[in-house]
Amino acid sequence: MKIFAYGIREDEKSSIENWKSANPDVEVDYTDQTLTPETATLAKGASGIVTLQTTPYERESLKILKDEGISNISIRNVGYDNFNFDDLKEFNFKLSNVPVYSPNAIAEHAVLLIGRLLRRIPEVDTKFDNGDFTWAPTIGKEYREQTVGVIGTGHIGRVAIQMLQGFGAKVIAYDVYHNEAIEKQGLYVDTLEELYQQADVITLHVPLTSDNAYMIDEKAIEQMKDGVYLINCARGELISNDALIKGLDSGKIAGAGLDVLDHENNVFGKKWGSINNLPDPTIKNLAERQNVIITPHNAFYTETAIWNMIEVSFDSNKDLIEGKIPDTLVYSKK
Ligand code: NAD
Ligand code: COI
Repeated sequence: MKIFAYGIREDEKSSIENWKSANPDVEVDYTDQTLTPETATLAKGASGIVTLQTTPYERESLKILKDEGISNISIRNVGYDNFNFDDLKEFNFKLSNVPVYSPNAIAEHAVLLIGRLLRRIPEVDTKFDNGDFTWAPTIGKEYREQTVGVIGTGHIGRVAIQMLQGFGAKVIAYDVYHNEAIEKQGLYVDTLEELYQQADVITLHVPLTSDNAYMIDEKAIEQMKDGVYLINCARGELISNDALIKGLDSGKIAGAGLDVLDHENNVFGKKWGSINNLPDPTIKNLAERQNVIITPHNAFYTETAIWNMIEVSFDSNKDLIEGKIPDTLVYSKK
């Protein structure tokens, strides 16, 4: 049995070696390149592929894999919004993901973004860089004075709620499905409108689907409190960049913490030397603001997460190849 992996980084290689030692019956080969029509034939001879990328999985790449006799795909991450499920169905692929590699990694990142915005850390850092060790005007706000609206109470949202409550914030939540523990605490509001009207800080922890793309648009922002903070560690396409910029310009939005961005692949994953060189004017506009913190989709990026992503994705791919159904299965025609 052979598994071929795409997009392998240096920091993943020791985990792959560990997995190989525990699974000597499996031949493993990999490339640092992502899966594209140009790289799809690299997997020739394998029975399954393990992959991770934020760019779309193109139909042509999947067709080439299928023509090579490969029908098992395991992603090393949570979100599978970059697959077209019609393609998976047509080419009869099985797909697995890693649903819980470390919700803490992403939840911590979101909670830290909130804290950095509340304590105006980008401004404090700029003052420090200029040798200015005075206090004004960077007076901050405390978590315990905030009502934080958590949208999505799945694995990540629930850990974020615990952390926020630990800091003393009042939490309210919205989800299309109610989690029992969150329900028991009485945190749910019935509608997004209610959450928008009550929250001082809003943090997104929902998957991107065809129903919720650009859910944070001008209309949604109008319903929010003046001076709201928006946090997005889920998917960039949940927030309209234009609406966000309009809200920041008017002061309706006091600040934003963004680990994901609409059109993030225009800038993330590359070294630009300076934000002055960013080629995407909208993202550059956001990046230049002291009340906007952008991180390059690295909320997930911890040592714990990386090992789990490798172990679970390779285990799942092996299961798929052996005809077993892993509990990480996302899609199978049968
Ligand atoms: P999850 O499936 O455990 O939870 C998602 C929750 O969202 C579920 O409770 C679901 O009922 C709810 N939901 C779905 N659609 C909704 C909608 N339209 N409105 C309200 N609630 C809705 O997923 P998770 O592990 O918590 O991850 C959430 C998302 O975070 C992922 O889908 C992924 O896009 C993103 N993510 C980002 C990073 C990162 O590094 N920034 C890492 C991992 C995951
Ligand atoms: C996910 O796991 O869904 C992420 O967003 C992490 C990223 C490496 C794709």
